[in-house]
Amino acid sequence: MKTPIKIFALYALLLLSAKTSYANTASLNSLHTKDKEQDQQPLQWKAQWITIGYAEDTIAKPAQYFQKNFSCAKKVKSAIIHITAHGLYEASIGDKRVGNAYLTPGWTDYNKRLEYQTYDVTNMLKKGDNSLTVSVGNGWYRGVFGFEMHDFYGKELALLAQLEITYTDGKKEIIGTDASWKCGTGPVGANSINHGEIVDGNKSIVCDKPVTIANTGYDKLVADTSVHVTKHETFKPIKVITTPKGEMVLDFGQNLVGWVVVNAGGRKSDTINLLHAEVLDKAGNFYMDNMRTAKVKATYILTGKKQLYEPHFTYFGFRYVKVTGVHGTINPDDFTAVALYADMKPTGTFECSNPMLNKLQQNIVWGQRGNFLCIPTDCPQRDERLGWTGDAQVFSRTAAFNYDVNQYLSHWLADLALDQQPNGSLPHVIPDVLNGAGGSAGWADSSTIIPWTLYEVYGNKQILETQYPSMKAWVEFMRKGSNNNLWNTSWHFGDWLSYRDPHDDGTDAITNKQEIAQCFYAHSTQLLINAATVLNKKDDIAFYTSLLEKIKEAYRHEYITGSGRLLSDTQTAYVLALQFDMLPEANRAAAAKYLADNIHNYKDHLTTGFLGTPYLCHVLSRFGYTDLAYTLLLQDTFPSWLYPVKMGATTIWERWDGIKTDGSFQTTYMNSFNHYAYGAIGDWMYQNIAGIQLGSPGYKNIVIKPVPGGGLTWCKASYDCPNGKIAVDWKLNAGKLMLNVTIPKGSTATVILPDGKTKQVNSGTHHFEG
Ligand code: BGC
Repeated sequence: MKTPIKIFALYALLLLSAKTSYANTASLNSLHTKDKEQDQQPLQWKAQWITIGYAEDTIAKPAQYFQKNFSCAKKVKSAIIHITAHGLYEASIGDKRVGNAYLTPGWTDYNKRLEYQTYDVTNMLKKGDNSLTVSVGNGWYRGVFGFEMHDFYGKELALLAQLEITYTDGKKEIIGTDASWKCGTGPVGANSINHGEIVDGNKSIVCDKPVTIANTGYDKLVADTSVHVTKHETFKPIKVITTPKGEMVLDFGQNLVGWVVVNAGGRKSDTINLLHAEVLDKAGNFYMDNMRTAKVKATYILTGKKQLYEPHFTYFGFRYVKVTGVHGTINPDDFTAVALYADMKPTGTFECSNPMLNKLQQNIVWGQRGNFLCIPTDCPQRDERLGWTGDAQVFSRTAAFNYDVNQYLSHWLADLALDQQPNGSLPHVIPDVLNGAGGSAGWADSSTIIPWTLYEVYGNKQILETQYPSMKAWVEFMRKGSNNNLWNTSWHFGDWLSYRDPHDDGTDAITNKQEIAQCFYAHSTQLLINAATVLNKKDDIAFYTSLLEKIKEAYRHEYITGSGRLLSDTQTAYVLALQFDMLPEANRAAAAKYLADNIHNYKDHLTTGFLGTPYLCHVLSRFGYTDLAYTLLLQDTFPSWLYPVKMGATTIWERWDGIKTDGSFQTTYMNSFNHYAYGAIGDWMYQNIAGIQLGSPGYKNIVIKPVPGGGLTWCKASYDCPNGKIAVDWKLNAGKLMLNVTIPKGSTATVILPDGKTKQVNSGTHHFEG
């Protein structure tokens, strides 16, 4: 049976009309959340794995289509379908798409667990003839992703689908993938995560070939607990640019992650090519060098009739799109960029009197959106897009302000625990596609830091139960790799991308990697003790408390000089030592002063990399230097958070100086313009400018402690904690703070005013001055 390309246009139309909705995860016909509850009952699979029964085009590796025509003789009372694939799948019944999730079944370590989705399709079946079609693309399973990985999990695409129908007379019927299905090709041609996709509107779905049964087994299959990737905001081009090189470029005004839907007529077989880029170069030309080997190209072959085209099994990180193949002038209305990301509930809002800070906040949020698709990634555009553990760790606390990431990060942590090595070492990236390479300080500590963050923010005790063995195994790895309690046997990334002096004046901010490692060894041990305390593991509390003392002692012996300086006289060294309480009480004030002096030596600039940055302003605030924290936050020359904002950034950059003041690029090799790590400052902004702080796990007790500074005259922020909305709204009136606070039911709050006055309040809205 032939299914015309029209259905793809229909999908696009349907889904575009659902634009900008923060649709909740169970919306449309996905049974996603219910499925989690069904988890206990393992699904009885009657369906068999199927693959194509014909020789495929091994060069193009186009999407494969599987189809089953069947008849419902009676009225359907209810129907659900379970689907998964080796590869990515999209299913339709008749001409309607099943569910609103993209890039399904998502990305887990397929060698260890593969999720299946369950959808309610009751309303999609009709009495009489029905047709179920599933297209399967290469995705992570065997497509090109990461550092040019090919066929990483296997060579053959495969499908498993089981439709369970209950009729109104109570009779049940199961239609599962089996030898009776047919397969063939359709509009989606070559497709890969890194390189993009070809969609040929002139190719119909033709499933007339036999399938082959694959003995793939069911043992890796688990019910879906992911937060689905769905469509969100849409953008129209704000400008059509003809570059100096004569290229036609659309500017969507926002660096986003997703793809461009084109409403194209043209002539039959005309080919529109879309190339994706984050930035233009100094001369204003389209710039793709930082994509490295990723071709990031969408190709639409036109039918000649006006219809919508979009890709299915890829995604792009872009603000600019270079268009070729359009005859005549481009009508910007025909192009719509669609943001795709995990359908997390937005939980935070932040606004203040400084427009640059508001832009920074928006950029942080866009960094999160663009890198929270199936897994938290370092970047969404070049030939990488991997689940770098360090990046996720440093950003996790900020992420939890902007969106509800409880389920999202718990889901990823399950893979983290599965991929942990037998010796407790943790891979640099999860899912692990680097053959176990791992064990780096600050990266592997995602195993302790993220579970603890989820416990603190959401009161999620279960995640501590679940992850405890993983947390402990990581600490044990460090302990076993230590000599006299100094952990000095692993290889480390260190304070990644910290300040390098462009003038070679000897001011590089390099922090000794072992010194950093010892701090994280202590921090992870502390978090393990915290978790053991919550879980009441008395022996572990005793053992690791005594170990922690020894770790700190070893640190003090090795890394503090006689005068109380640190071996590495860098901001990151002081920040980590102070944040993790590595120093004796008596040395802390002096160390904080060394930190402040160091910042002044760089003319009030930060020099921290990935590991120091998240804690920098927190440490300054804790030790009485909030003014300096504000100075750093408002600094707008390199290196600083506002420098990229000043340079027109719409997301967070990988490097403090991705684009230099003269418009040239710092490097081509590793220069992402959508890397959320430095966005970790968002946490300080919520906690110190707005003053929304955690009093006890799950915000049962809340601390409201705004500390105005930096010339700000007002701030308005909110955070949806598990008990409901916390809202803070302050303004300065003749130097006096006028503060309104809303506390949700079930929580209490301690309000601390800048003049030192402290008030205890219950739920409700309260006004304070002080
Ligand atoms: C990634 C980083 C990552 C790093 C390891 C890079 O290629 O983009 O964000 O954490 O490698 O240091």
